[in-house]
Amino acid sequence: MNTLDTILARCSVRSFTDETPSIDLLRELCADSPYLRPVDPAIIGSERVGTYGVITGRPAYVAAVGDPLQAGIAGEKLVIELTRRGLGTCWLGATFSRTVANKALQLSDNKDIIAVIAIGTPTKMRRPIDWLMHVGARGGQRKPLDKLILDGQPAPAIANGLEAMRWAPSAYNRQPWRFAFRPDGAIEVHGLPGDYLLLDCGIAIAHFLLLHPAYELTAPASPRPGLTPIATLKPSAKS
Ligand SMILES: Cc1cc2nc3c(=O)[nH]c(=O)nc-3n(C[C@H](O)[C@H](O)[C@H](O)COP(=O)(O)O)c2cc1C
Repeated sequence: MNTLDTILARCSVRSFTDETPSIDLLRELCADSPYLRPVDPAIIGSERVGTYGVITGRPAYVAAVGDPLQAGIAGEKLVIELTRRGLGTCWLGATFSRTVANKALQLSDNKDIIAVIAIGTPTKMRRPIDWLMHVGARGGQRKPLDKLILDGQPAPAIANGLEAMRWAPSAYNRQPWRFAFRPDGAIEVHGLPGDYLLLDCGIAIAHFLLLHPAYELTAPASPRPGLTPIATLKPSAKS
């Protein structure tokens, strides 16, 4: 599968088998990122990070820590790599135990964990709670691109990147990202204020950067009414 197909094939998985992915694999995939911390299952023992009832089975967990925009970018790049390897994932901002995750990571400050990613082998059948969360949050639906554009015209060459951003996961499937396209090719990313805004926008930006790695993340543009400026994606000389 190519990268866009992998991005489009991803959906949140909340029902896992009892086969926990290897901590060594997760350590290897997270080794270069200060924003990702694999949770060692040997430390949590029989306790659960993902709230039982929403998450079942025995997934592994990676915690997203530190700067939420960068943690979103790093975490979603990991999610897409794991999807490519056939594993299921779900970002959890609310339905996880901060106490258990924090104990396992031995962080001194509980607030450091922004969210966790559950990672494991999906069961063959979704449970009713899975369907409820999926349908309730309209997980399989996204806003059309024209509703996300503030102004300007995107270049045809980045259409795949925008489609990838449109299908990014977000808390409550809020899809808070909005875009303005500048004549110099830069993309201003703005966001609708709300919970997990920077994390969500980092996740969407990761999808774009996976398809257009030569773009650079630069400072946000001037604020627009009712929106929070997040970042500007600029084509580098190589793109
Ligand atoms: C930052 C973030 C936090 C999330 N928190 C939760 C959560 O606490 N519990 C949950 O079941 N799903 C959670 N989700 C999953 C979203 O509900 C899901 O991504 C969204 O509905 C879109 O569905 P999809 O991922 O299947 O495309 C979260 C997603 C993101 C990106």
